[in-house]
Amino acid sequence: MTETLNLKEYLTHPAFRVISTVADQEGLETYVIGGFVRDLLLYRKREKYDIDIVTVGSGIELARKVAQAIHPKLNVTVFKNFGTAMFKDGEVEFEFVGTRKESYRQDSRKPVVEDGTLEDDQNRRDFTINTLAISLNEAKYGEMLDPFNGMDDLESKLIRTPLDPEITFSDDPLRMMRAIRFATQLEFRIEERTFAAIGQQAERIKIVSKERISDELNKIIASPKPSIGFKLMEMCGLLKIILPEIQNLKGRESVNGIYHKDNFYHTLEVLDRICLTTDNLWLRWSALLHDVAKPVTKRFSPALGWTFHGHNFVGEKMVPKLFDRLKLPLNEKMKFVQKMVLLHMRPIVLSEEEVTDSAVRRLLFDAGDDIDDLMTLCEADITSKNEEKVARYLANFQLVREKLKEIEEKDAIRNFQPPVTGELIMETFQLSPCKEVGMIKSAIKEAILEGEIRNNYEEAFQFMLNKGRELGLVAGAEQGS
Ligand code: CTP
Repeated sequence: MTETLNLKEYLTHPAFRVISTVADQEGLETYVIGGFVRDLLLYRKREKYDIDIVTVGSGIELARKVAQAIHPKLNVTVFKNFGTAMFKDGEVEFEFVGTRKESYRQDSRKPVVEDGTLEDDQNRRDFTINTLAISLNEAKYGEMLDPFNGMDDLESKLIRTPLDPEITFSDDPLRMMRAIRFATQLEFRIEERTFAAIGQQAERIKIVSKERISDELNKIIASPKPSIGFKLMEMCGLLKIILPEIQNLKGRESVNGIYHKDNFYHTLEVLDRICLTTDNLWLRWSALLHDVAKPVTKRFSPALGWTFHGHNFVGEKMVPKLFDRLKLPLNEKMKFVQKMVLLHMRPIVLSEEEVTDSAVRRLLFDAGDDIDDLMTLCEADITSKNEEKVARYLANFQLVREKLKEIEEKDAIRNFQPPVTGELIMETFQLSPCKEVGMIKSAIKEAILEGEIRNNYEEAFQFMLNKGRELGLVAGAEQGS
């Protein structure tokens, strides 16, 4: 007989003991199950813990009684439709549910639910590594129940469904994304039959809400090496449904034996590289989308070879449509991604030429506070195989960074505020709002960026007077003299 694994020493949260006592009092078989157990066995640190408790009985009743025992005022949130209840103890969320047997309809993720045994409940879960359950009743406190050999799969780093994968995925197509997300986050392999079933059912992802899909996409992008997930999504046919724009980056066309690079693999390299230096999800999205318009702007000419003119401008315009379709936020986060896509070539162009002060000022003006993120994106974008070329670019970038710092200290362009306001221009020349005011304002900005004047009130005011005279305007103090 194999020895039962006991994990009681890992159940350090005090609520587990309370659950145990209450479950015994109520005569309810109760377990902790799912992601918490999986991550515990993987020694995986999480920022936020959700602990799933299943009981052979009413999860809602058990949650109420446990909460009462922890603190009479502890608030329990009940989701009657789902038969679940949860409370928060500090940063940890405990979610309670009764063991269930579920079957799903073809056209919906909403299951028909019946009560079931623990094994029924484990059976209906997505992957063997998520079926692991630890008993909380005193007599078996800490004992592991693993009918689907989830422990073996954890050890061999394998994502596998407990039932036939066709059934598991057909029951809930979101699980296809979850399989790929876990494979990416944990760097696990998806078992062949499981992966083949995703390929067969990829189309069914269309019945899943965009929010849930994006949630999984975000988790893939937030992983240490997102390319794993994107390659898997491409291979099984999910990518062309969810993100056709990224799918379209794949491939190398040739004319007269001249190929362009495969922008799908290039993009994934940039994405993986940026993940080494930033956790900012939206900067990672920017890396994913920086070349998104290359397929639509691609041209070949014998003189120039392959060109992608304006792909940054077109890409900037593609971002809102893509964000809208995926129900990603249409706020300043999206605007940030747009800005990164638009500007992603600027530092490279700059570093290829002599780095002039005015070019640096313009870059600072356009990027503003996002300049450091832009530089990070550009550095990640250098994926050439030619080491000498990479070293040269990175050295030039270093120069650009130094110059950026020096000029920012001198001219404070990053958060550019016109040193002379429109109101002052109107007051000085006794004007109502008109096109001359705008002309003077933008001439001042240009003069500062070009380095003709310094970014301060005195020089800008003097410049304004001269400019006004050029336009035939008379300053108030000069009027009548
Ligand atoms: N589950 C499932 N099918 C789903 C979602 C969840 O079978 N589509 C089951 C799994 O057993 C999972 C548990 O419900 O472990 C809890 O789900 P969830 O909290 O979404 O995921 P975790 O596995 O905890 O992982 P993470 O917190 O990383 O999302």
